Amino acid sequence: MRRPIVVANWKMHTHSADAGILATSVRNNVADFEGVSIIICPPMIWLTEVASIIGKGGRLEVGAQNAFFEAEGAYTGEVSPTMIKDVANYVIVGHSERREYFGETDLDVNEKTIAALKAGLTPIICVGERKKKNNPDEPVSELIEALAHIPKKNYKDIIVAYEPVWAIGTGENADPIYVSKIITKLREIVHSNTSILYGGSVNSGNAESYAKMPQVDGLLVGGASLRAADFVKICRTWSLSKNFKNDLFVIKEEDEDSN
Ligand code: PGA
Repeated sequence: MRRPIVVANWKMHTHSADAGILATSVRNNVADFEGVSIIICPPMIWLTEVASIIGKGGRLEVGAQNAFFEAEGAYTGEVSPTMIKDVANYVIVGHSERREYFGETDLDVNEKTIAALKAGLTPIICVGERKKKNNPDEPVSELIEALAHIPKKNYKDIIVAYEPVWAIGTGENADPIYVSKIITKLREIVHSNTSILYGGSVNSGNAESYAKMPQVDGLLVGGASLRAADFVKICRTWSLSKNFKNDLFVIKEEDEDSN
């Protein structure tokens, strides 16, 4: 369902002690934020630990940063979606760093998305153009490929993250109006109730500019999610987003009618 969501992607950062401190600090500081779902994606090795710190059924949830597409077998080093489902409800698939450094193809992303859905996980599918261009073709094609063979009725069970690769970790966040235009194109592919997030050099200073955009349902935050104070500020901004984004709820009502 379309709702405000902030995802923390810790990538390959933190050791056991600081993962615990970061998770605890975020948990303690977002406890009374309403109107936003917060999903923490720590390194796989700390997934269980972070899940136990943040507890179940609260404002915070955990997700994995990756999963294999098989349920089990002789796949040394891999972790399956069904294993992740024991501790988490979400998994990031198709992040540009997986595509670039681990050779993941659109087909892999599609298989992982299907496997995640089968395991009962919500996939957070990342798409985005590599080079800066004023054109939605690349993310649109990545999303179409990621959703191949998936029945349309499942589209409401996924989250899409539009992450222009040129904006990731560069300090050059994409213009919110540009982001809104691309998300409008991506929305034509998915269910009108699918949440579509933006990611790429988000910080506590620019988070509000996206929260004001009715097309943007949330954020996927990398670097800034490793700093508890910054991340909490971003979550606070999004918990207030309904105040300056009433049309989000109007859109939802229209969605109910049109589906
Ligand atoms: P960034 O990363 O916020 O550090 O740019 C975003 C991401 O890769 O998910």
